[in-house]
Amino acid sequence: MADFDLVIRGGTVATAADTTNCDVGIKDGAVAALGRQLGAGLREIDARGKLVLPGGIDSHCHIEQRSSAGVICADDFYSGTVAAAFGGTTTVIPFAAQHRGQSLRQVVEDYHAAAQPKAVIDYAFHLIISDPTEQVLGQELPALIRDGYTSFKVYMTYDLLQLDDHQLLDILALARREGALVMVHAENYDMIRWLTARLLESGRTAPRYHAVSHARLAEGEATHRAISLAQLLDVPILLVHVSAPEAIEEIRSAQTKGLKIYGETCPQYLFLTAEDIARPGLEGAKYCCSPPPRDQAGQEAVWAGLKNGTFQVFSSDHAPYRFDASGKLPHGEHTTFKAVANGVPGIELRLPLLFSEGVGRGRLDLNAFVALTATNHAKLYGLYPRKGTIAVGSDADIAIWDPGRETIVSAAMLHDNVGYTPYEGRHLHGWPVTVLSRGRVVVEDGALVAGRGSGAFLPCALSEFAKPAGIAVPELAYAAGHGAPLV
Ligand code: URP
Ligand code: ZN
Ligand code: ZN
Repeated sequence: MADFDLVIRGGTVATAADTTNCDVGIKDGAVAALGRQLGAGLREIDARGKLVLPGGIDSHCHIEQRSSAGVICADDFYSGTVAAAFGGTTTVIPFAAQHRGQSLRQVVEDYHAAAQPKAVIDYAFHLIISDPTEQVLGQELPALIRDGYTSFKVYMTYDLLQLDDHQLLDILALARREGALVMVHAENYDMIRWLTARLLESGRTAPRYHAVSHARLAEGEATHRAISLAQLLDVPILLVHVSAPEAIEEIRSAQTKGLKIYGETCPQYLFLTAEDIARPGLEGAKYCCSPPPRDQAGQEAVWAGLKNGTFQVFSSDHAPYRFDASGKLPHGEHTTFKAVANGVPGIELRLPLLFSEGVGRGRLDLNAFVALTATNHAKLYGLYPRKGTIAVGSDADIAIWDPGRETIVSAAMLHDNVGYTPYEGRHLHGWPVTVLSRGRVVVEDGALVAGRGSGAFLPCALSEFAKPAGIAVPELAYAAGHGAPLV
């Protein structure tokens, strides 16, 4: 009789904390034992010479989402999760995105209906709040938080998403009260709007001007303001898709004051620059995302932030749009930089890129890689220790990496539905060759083994990381000592 359903034998097992040579015994979808010379499994995988890592968690990706401008993502929950799995990711947290006028509860139901029959790996949802009405803040959102949607994203820019500071404070106060985590897209709306108007009226319509209009200062200013709003109420926030050195400095400086300010960055800020957006003709549109990639010094600042702990999470911000009128170029060859659909694909390459350029080149150790790509996501969003680590009792979500495998990236080898990749032609070292979700093999020998709809929804718990730091600003401390607290 076998002791386990599956044994992964003889690999180098790394978590965010440790690296050990041992076997992993899996039973009923969970890790049942870690040790040397474990008993037999019904199935065994020889992992000698391989790395056995927690499956990645991509906590920022857009799947089957309609943008505020009405453009639909190229990936649905099948192609999006298949691509994620091939790249070593076993949990995704995309967005259930509210458009103005919509009921949040209805939005969540719609995303479930889309995901449940298609996802091949497990998933949770963040919410996007674009219409914080009394009904939304007073009833829908608190109830949804209790149902396991414990994080939500707010925007300081974009015509149909932008919230003013007053609205942001309402949402931050609610998050504090309910224990939810707020993710902030921080760019100064009016700076971008003003620059965009000047550029367009002077005939500067090419994609390269996207990077000009989304100025570094716009990101730095909004990051500072978001942090101040959060500080006023003593509520943690996560600044998402951070690219500008100015923004990184703001986050770092807040962290050194003891504020619970978290940072996320993405592959496009390590591996692309504004020069890519300046490629000839409309080609640059393939690289347009917000905030945009900056310059080489900016890339170095992002690497430094990953190394020194300013960033807790490395996500893809996979925003998949085809390079045609259905996606990137809504007005065909007449599309101006303002109308280009924002976002780049990256759900499959997120981990291989960081592994190759980070671990492979000695910029990050393996444990930091695991923390940045899996463990910290689970901790921030209330999925730990079920997800994000390899420990007895955790779901057996595991990616077995061949650290020596060489790959030349091409759009043709990827499994998303985008048709291009910003990383075409890059040479990568290391690739996840076998991927398990809850102990079942999802990807093996370059083939998908899991069926449509085999992924499960994960309600998220409230996270320790969303609890106030306990550093009240003097005005609020005064108010609390003189009658009912303000928040
Ligand atoms: O350009 C980007 N990042 N597009 C996706 C939407 C967002 O703001 O995350
Ligand atoms: Zn954003
Ligand atoms: Zn995004």
